[in-house]
Amino acid sequence: MCYSLVESTIEGYNGTIFAYGQTGCGKTHTMQGDKNLSNSGIIPKCFDHIFETISMTTNVRYLALVTYMEIYNERIRDLLNKNENTSVINHSLKELPGIGVSVPTLTTQPVVNANQCYDWLHFGNKNRVTAATLMNKNSSRSHTIFTITLEQSPFFNSIGLEDAFGGIRRGKLSLVDLAGSERQRRTGAKGDRLKEASQINLSLSALGNVISSLVDGKAKHVPFRDSKLTRLLQDSLGGNTKTLMISCISPTDINYDETISTLRYASRAKNISNKPKINEDPKDATLRLYQNEILYLKRMLQESQQISYRNNDTNKIIESPLKIIQLTNMNSTKNVQIIESGQNCNASFKTNNSISTNPNFPLIQSEGEIQLQAQSRIDLIKRTLIGGERIHDFKLKKKAHGSKICSPTSLKCNS
Ligand SMILES: Nc1ncnc2c1ncn2[C@@H]1O[C@H](COP(=O)(O)OP(=O)(O)O)[C@@H](O)[C@H]1O
Ligand SMILES: [Mg+2]
Repeated sequence: MCYSLVESTIEGYNGTIFAYGQTGCGKTHTMQGDKNLSNSGIIPKCFDHIFETISMTTNVRYLALVTYMEIYNERIRDLLNKNENTSVINHSLKELPGIGVSVPTLTTQPVVNANQCYDWLHFGNKNRVTAATLMNKNSSRSHTIFTITLEQSPFFNSIGLEDAFGGIRRGKLSLVDLAGSERQRRTGAKGDRLKEASQINLSLSALGNVISSLVDGKAKHVPFRDSKLTRLLQDSLGGNTKTLMISCISPTDINYDETISTLRYASRAKNISNKPKINEDPKDATLRLYQNEILYLKRMLQESQQISYRNNDTNKIIESPLKIIQLTNMNSTKNVQIIESGQNCNASFKTNNSISTNPNFPLIQSEGEIQLQAQSRIDLIKRTLIGGERIHDFKLKKKAHGSKICSPTSLKCNS
């Protein structure tokens, strides 16, 4: 069902999959599945699909970045930040030209395989606010959005230009698990629970209003600004994103009203038409920063080596360019943490601090130590750029071909 949407994301489109329905009817089950992998949900399947496809690409390097946020009582929390206090933090939304609505202060984690994605998903899930309602004791009362951003660039190593990259494309897959859509009176909620329920209903009714105004061709104003959820989904609703809405409904007759209301919602949403397009050369691409940093460090390494030779010849002491990097490069890179490739991030969430962000980076070091640091930084960045690792794996190719044949060729709705 999601195959073509995920393929599009790998090509550079934006994609959104969201599950809608009343509490207890299987939204989280559909999106995340059971812990038991034989019954995995859409999110883990997307992880596998993305990384298997990337590992079979030729001459393209990808940088995969994940974020996980929660909207609870109209506040945005960063689920990947282990230090974040539940009640205080409220990240703000920013609308940036050419980028759209985003939350720039969220923790962004690079990932190199599906396992690292699962680990971050589980890490974020532990942070989720859950509360009991009459309907479902373990149901989450918040909306969550897990995003995987895939930045890609052609890689020209084969024609002798080592580390030369082409233009950048960026696809983003947002996986949204909404809170229950049921009306408050049915849940028996009181006090804080009632406040929560009304905030949940606020964003879901704002979503309903947005859908209605998009479908009603005459409406001049679409109320995206009425809630954080609708602002974040602005691109997914009538924008440049390919969107898939999954309606979860309950089979029991006591839930008849909610079922009808969910189906009405879905049938209206089906009439929204989006205009998906590939995101070419995004201004804020992290991949570009990394590419520039590699080139910069390599040039400095070369110059430093040449100066070392000259020093040996003349016995003169000349300041090495590498010593200057420490100072000039201190704050040059975005605050993106790099996980050691192949390391299980769940074990310790160890991050290998970059030269640019490591506060303990000693200012006085020997030439050799600095060269080593620069080289290990280059290697570290290179390990986060993925693509083509399993190009000769015929079993995997056969499996991918089978999935392609079995999948619907295109999404009927909104694409
Ligand atoms: N298709 C399904 N098959 C088996 N169990 C399911 C299915 N859908 C939901 N469940 C179970 O029903 C319960 C509620 O589902 P959940 O996904 O948490 O609902 P929601 O997120 O919509 O509130 C969970 O225990 C889940 O495992
Ligand atoms: Mg749920």
